Amino acid sequence: MNRPFVIAVASEKGGVGKTTIATNLAVYLKALREDLPVTIASFDNHFSVDQMFALGPRPERSVAGLLEDIPPADLAVLGQYGVQYIASDNRLQAPSCAPAWLRQRLHSTAFSGIMILDTRPILDWFTEAALLAADLVLVPIKDRASLVNASALQQILTAGERADRLWLVPSLVDSRARLNAEVKVHEFLAYAARERDYQVLDIYISKSPKVEGLASGFSSRLRPVLTHARNTAVHGQFKCLAEFVLTRFDAEPADERGRQAGLTQDVFTNISTGHRRRLVLECPLCCCQSLADDGHFYFDIRSRRRGFIHPGCFKQICSDLSLYDADGLYDTNGQNYTVALTIDGPGLIGPECRLTVHLCDADGELLDSEEVELNGRKSLVDSLEMMTGRSLDMTYRELILVNSLATYVETQLADDAYRSFVLRRRQVARTLRDAGLF
Ligand SMILES: Nc1ncnc2c1ncn2[C@@H]1O[C@H](COP(=O)(O)OP(=O)(O)OP(=O)(O)O)[C@@H](O)[C@H]1O
Ligand SMILES: [Mg+2]
Repeated sequence: MNRPFVIAVASEKGGVGKTTIATNLAVYLKALREDLPVTIASFDNHFSVDQMFALGPRPERSVAGLLEDIPPADLAVLGQYGVQYIASDNRLQAPSCAPAWLRQRLHSTAFSGIMILDTRPILDWFTEAALLAADLVLVPIKDRASLVNASALQQILTAGERADRLWLVPSLVDSRARLNAEVKVHEFLAYAARERDYQVLDIYISKSPKVEGLASGFSSRLRPVLTHARNTAVHGQFKCLAEFVLTRFDAEPADERGRQAGLTQDVFTNISTGHRRRLVLECPLCCCQSLADDGHFYFDIRSRRRGFIHPGCFKQICSDLSLYDADGLYDTNGQNYTVALTIDGPGLIGPECRLTVHLCDADGELLDSEEVELNGRKSLVDSLEMMTGRSLDMTYRELILVNSLATYVETQLADDAYRSFVLRRRQVARTLRDAGLF
């Protein structure tokens, strides 16, 4: 894979073992597979990652750089135990773009291996971003409350069509605690979780005084279980957890996302470097790979970002635009209409951002224009931000064109088809300009 396999460790419940799992998992992964790059970053402000991995002076850049579009490879530094880490930051500010942005960011970086993201015990922008970016989400559960809390994470993943990535890990388990003579507490917890349709790991992490002691001394260093609590049950449990993660990591190229990553490589070999550089791999609405099948080509004039929207997502966007009946758009006798979206951002007219949707026929002639209310249309706003690559607050005067006909990426970006798109793009821009609409 030419992108990181991202693991998020998350729970809204504090003190369930997220950081202990995230940091030790990094160490065990590296111990099991020496040549695999393992990187860890935390959105928490406890500096635990730094306390375990820092080697030498504090790096100049921190995890805040991820939000400033600095490639992870420029942020990560080599730390203890061969693990790369990105320095923590206690002044992280949530950016105004949608949390799915992080996924796009990480997926478009040439950064390989496994990247572990530790999160805060709240469901804020960072936790949501980590969840949506993750190929595997580990949620420690130690009691009923943490199990109940997992449903909020599940909802976010379900909305992003990534519910299958979620795995619950019984944590801080007192293996002697029993509900009754037959049933141990952690077995009941796992049973209750499965009853609620969660995937639960067979592995659990025991509560161990020795492990607790690793974090509670006066030392400013955090020690891993591998080197300082090897004689505990937790050592074997972390090893099993790391093996499970490696199985998922190894399986990734064979499953759909890996297949699509491979397909992206094939697609890339057949298209020019110029297109390749600005081609967004994922659908702006659902954030899943969109180069595998036919899709609606879009192009943002200012950023020159281009990509494809899944047909189902295009229908959803059309219905969010509430102007055009998507079925009507399909019924164009095979003619490729253009949906042109103009955005007058705050830079131009003050705090309110205005979106207008225009429909142009195959010759670029204007058929209709209507302003669209953005308030309360979160998924539409998120999609626009994905297409422009900027938060709407930072837009000025934008024009995005979307084809009403779905095409395959290679067909659309082949020289002839692309040339005719460029002509139509110019025609539409001229028409809108002449009408004082852009
Ligand atoms: N297996 C374990 N056995 C004993 N103590 C543990 C174990 N795992 C974690 N702890 C202890 O439990 C406490 C909470 O663990 P940790 O900081 O990993 O949880 P967290 O979910 O990251 O917390 P927060 O939500 O505050 O970030 C710590 O004091 C830690 O040392
Ligand atoms: Mg923590």
